[in-house]
Amino acid sequence: MVRQITVELGERSYPIYIGSGLLGELGARCKEAGYPPRSPLLIVSDSEVAPRFLAAAEKSLADQGYKTVSHVIPAGEASKSLAMYEAVVTTAIKAGLDRRSAVLALGGGVVGDLAGFVAATYMRGIGFLQIPTTILAHDSSVGGKVAVNHPLAKNMIGAFYQPSMVLYDLDTLATLPPRQVASGLAEVVKHGLILDRDFAYWCREHAQELLALEPEALGYALERGCSIKAAVVGEDETEQGLRAILNLGHTIGHAIEAVGSYGALLHGEAIAIGMAGAALLAAKLGRDRSIYTDTVSMLSALNLPVRLPAEYGIDELMEAMMHDKKFKEGQMTFIVPEAIGKVSIVDSIQPSDVREVLALLKKEEQPW
Ligand SMILES: NC(=O)c1ccc[n+]([C@@H]2O[C@H](COP(=O)([O-])OP(=O)(O)OC[C@H]3O[C@@H](n4cnc5c(N)ncnc54)[C@H](O)[C@@H]3O)[C@@H](O)[C@H]2O)c1
Ligand SMILES: [Zn+2]
Repeated sequence: MVRQITVELGERSYPIYIGSGLLGELGARCKEAGYPPRSPLLIVSDSEVAPRFLAAAEKSLADQGYKTVSHVIPAGEASKSLAMYEAVVTTAIKAGLDRRSAVLALGGGVVGDLAGFVAATYMRGIGFLQIPTTILAHDSSVGGKVAVNHPLAKNMIGAFYQPSMVLYDLDTLATLPPRQVASGLAEVVKHGLILDRDFAYWCREHAQELLALEPEALGYALERGCSIKAAVVGEDETEQGLRAILNLGHTIGHAIEAVGSYGALLHGEAIAIGMAGAALLAAKLGRDRSIYTDTVSMLSALNLPVRLPAEYGIDELMEAMMHDKKFKEGQMTFIVPEAIGKVSIVDSIQPSDVREVLALLKKEEQPW
């Protein structure tokens, strides 16, 4: 069964296909998308993904008459750099990619963000396809944010550049390490927490199936996650307002990642703690405490952390948040849950309240 979702963006609308065995259809889908076989295609992948899936991707493309060249980057966030960007562009130039060529991102969010930035800028923009191989990439592959990091700030050099297709082959997820599975599910349940109450509770109920990558449950969860993301992006492509709700848990989460120098906790783990923090903040602002207890039970069911490890200093975390763009005139902007499945953007959060939340998050005992 292939699930299909459309990201509605006028003439830049594109389909997301989710199902088993889709990598074998890559060549046919590229034909369908209108890429001419005489223009070479560049596949960007990483050192973990390429040994597993690159040959299948190349074969499917060759079967349809495409010439391909591949560039394999070292796995990991450090590859989202300007130096790696230049290396990939060098490969593209040497292979003779032209205006009708496309860049295919075969991998997780790191590959997607880097390859997308190459596609957005090579000859001022050529074709771009996402072939996500992590659960987290259900989020990063949809919506068109592409970027590399600057040594001083993450995702600082980038663009909005939509792919012409997302091809999500569920079979590729089977080799993901369990921590990566849980980390990706944090963004899945986030989509429920911001906009779909029933789906958030569904994730808690089906947590074991999701962690076991049971195809029916996983296919449904990724379809819901992608649909919610697509709906938000369809309303606000370039984050003028609404799109910010997707940042639930990310203000604290990004600070945790920055203080842990990107690597101690995985992205989904950091934002799980951040979502627990946002729910605590909501309680402080007078919202129902059950938002917090339910959020925590959902995240815990998915094997995600909800407490801040002792080694994270509150001063360092506050400092990291000030560097983030979400701080204005002594007040902070947070995505605050109003209920499970509903959030609001609040730009008048007092730093002292955030400190209190961080202190509560550090306690081993939960407050309620
Ligand atoms: N553009 C966006 O909107 C957006 C949204 C969220 C996150 N991101 C970005 O995404 C990145 C994180 O994405 P990620 O979690 O996918 O990280 P990732 O790409 O680093 O993948 C995680 C790890 O899993 C490995 N891996 C990937 N697929 C695998 C598979 N099928 N089997 C075995 N191993 C596999 C990778 O090699 C890597 O070591 C961050 O850079 C983040 O900034 C972007
Ligand atoms: Zn995220």
